[in-house]
Amino acid sequence: IPVDPFDLVIFGGTGDLARRKILPGLFRRFRAGTMPEESRIIGSARSEHTDEEYRQIVSDAIAEFGGDEKDDKTNLDAFLGRLHYVRVDAAGDEGWEDLSALMRDGVIRAFYFSVGPSLFGALAERLHRHGVADDDSRIVVEKPFGRDLASARELNETLRSHFDEHQIYRIDHYLGKETVQNLMAIRFGNVLFEPLWNNHYIDHIQITVAETVGVEGRGAYYDKSGAMRDMVQNHLMQLLCLIAMEPPAMYEADAVRDEKLKVIRALQPVDYHHLVRGQYDQGTEGEPGYREDAGDPRSFTESFVALRCHINNWRWAGVPFYLRTGKKLKARTSEIAVVFQDLGHSIFEGDEKRHRNILVIRLQPNEGIDLQVTIKEPGPGGMRLIDVPLDMTFADALGPEAEDVPDAYERLIMDVFRGNQTLFMRGDEVEAAWAWTDPIIAGWEARGDVPKLYEPGTAGPDDSAMLLHRDNRRWRDIKA
Ligand code: BG6
Repeated sequence: IPVDPFDLVIFGGTGDLARRKILPGLFRRFRAGTMPEESRIIGSARSEHTDEEYRQIVSDAIAEFGGDEKDDKTNLDAFLGRLHYVRVDAAGDEGWEDLSALMRDGVIRAFYFSVGPSLFGALAERLHRHGVADDDSRIVVEKPFGRDLASARELNETLRSHFDEHQIYRIDHYLGKETVQNLMAIRFGNVLFEPLWNNHYIDHIQITVAETVGVEGRGAYYDKSGAMRDMVQNHLMQLLCLIAMEPPAMYEADAVRDEKLKVIRALQPVDYHHLVRGQYDQGTEGEPGYREDAGDPRSFTESFVALRCHINNWRWAGVPFYLRTGKKLKARTSEIAVVFQDLGHSIFEGDEKRHRNILVIRLQPNEGIDLQVTIKEPGPGGMRLIDVPLDMTFADALGPEAEDVPDAYERLIMDVFRGNQTLFMRGDEVEAAWAWTDPIIAGWEARGDVPKLYEPGTAGPDDSAMLLHRDNRRWRDIKA
């Protein structure tokens, strides 16, 4: 779907996110021909730079964080030619007149708030006051979107006092991942799965987002946040919504978001017996543990969470959803596993193993789906059954096209210009997610809960395995 010409202003235009993700992503879209002629990118921050200096900063960022495309000098020069820089004081009044003078009529104006949330209000207000934004302008904001329900509400109110909900694009980059969207395609584009998608056929669902990195370098932010706020409240919650929601009447922003919201609102409060918090310990070779990475020798912040939750509705009554995420784990892998119920009765004599179909949706790496099915073991040994994967790695099935998919940020930014909010969080969704998360956090704070230590390179604390063992189930192995 084509994009209309735009002016994109990036506040925090020299910051980490802009250099690492936004600008290299925009360059890839430019090369792919999706950035229309006449579109411009205007970097903005507090320090003084000329356009030329800013182009150099962006060129360096692309050299550092871009892929092979950074060697495409012709396109790179053309792309850099679209860049400008304006010095603006987000919380003061300097620079706003210059920015206002630069804005053009007849193109989409989008403003990316790539700054801390404490500046969101100041930016929104000044965009308005100085006439930089118009009624069709879009603002893009990133997490952390509040740290609890009260602060998220306040942020929403601040933004909504200057912009309408349809102008606010709240990014959760998980929604931009190719396979996350594929989740909807798989569920609602096939006749095969949806009839089985309920408590009559599904035993339980596991959602795992495992990382090998620690929090080194971003300890100051992370230590105030922890895995619950950093990952569960947003990314895992979004995955849960997409896997559990009722079919929307159409693939359209509010239809989809209404259904997601219903899932969050139907979540049962989490019992603390069904919650495990972990913190990574020092490595056996003396690599720093969480507390050292976070710079607080007494930190009780969790770098791992596992929990069991339930959705109180007709479809999911009695089906546990197990969620886990953590840093410094065995492998980097994100997947959703839909574990179907055991066969009620086996006609094969001597077959005592429990066979189950499992549908695994792999988000990363090796995006694809994998359906575990039971077949006869080949050979003359009689009717012996084995479970094998019907594996479809998208890159194998679709060839080079699958490798050329835009990354999450690229896709989401282009959707901003298209005016498509389907893959962005609506304010009420964010608030509902906090409303569910807040009591969990308040509960462990009141209990003075101390996270369980786990060895780096493992699957997290033993209690996490216990969480499923108690239910006579087990986690899938974490492997890349
Ligand atoms: C971010 C979190 O939102 O997502 C990080 O703040 C985390 O802590 C990251 O590492 C994971 O994203 P991805 O795309 O690498 O799975």
